[in-house]
Amino acid sequence: MKRLLFIVGSFHENGFNYQLAKQVERSIGDRAYVDYLDYSTIPFFRQEDMYPCPPDVEDVRKKIDDVDALWVFTPEYNGSYPGVVKNLFDWLSISLDPHNSRGESIIHAKKTAVAGIGGNTAARAREEMGVLLDFIRTYVCHDAGFGITPRREEWATGLIEFSEETQRDIHKHVDIFLDFLDEG
Ligand SMILES: Cc1cc2nc3c(=O)[nH]c(=O)nc-3n(C[C@H](O)[C@H](O)[C@H](O)COP(=O)(O)O)c2cc1C
Repeated sequence: MKRLLFIVGSFHENGFNYQLAKQVERSIGDRAYVDYLDYSTIPFFRQEDMYPCPPDVEDVRKKIDDVDALWVFTPEYNGSYPGVVKNLFDWLSISLDPHNSRGESIIHAKKTAVAGIGGNTAARAREEMGVLLDFIRTYVCHDAGFGITPRREEWATGLIEFSEETQRDIHKHVDIFLDFLDEG
């Protein structure tokens, strides 16, 4: 069975994007193994600390290495994705070979997808996240990407109700990503 690692782009407890990730997990059901990446303890990136990298970064690298694909669920902060996610991907993007800065990173050619929930479907954050994931040489399944805009009352309560129509749409994107994972 394929293994997926979910990366929620904020540390907001039961935030919108965590709720979205849980809904996607439900949609996947028993078709893949899903785990969540805890990257809350990795330090700010510092070039002097790349080799060897800090232990918490090494732990994150092992988790990434163990899976077939990553799915990023990003909020929108000031028209982009949150800085904590950029910090994570800066760490993950560095070459594993200290003598070759252009060498393969731990996420080289890893299959990825992006979803998000926020104002105007978190469109700008999702687009920029896709650009970043392309730039750092992951293999982005753009067709699996989708975004959701919370309704007014959901902004107020902090709880997203996934309508049947939205659930069907999520399911469609999950199918696309799972098919993408089955491709060579
Ligand atoms: C610093 C900051 C900047 C934000 N900027 C935006 C924004 O540009 N567009 C938007 O739709 N929401 C913005 N929001 C609201 C977030 O969409 C909202 O906090 C949402 O709950 C974040 O997702 P999460 O619950 O998954 O963490 C911002 C929130 C914060 C804290």
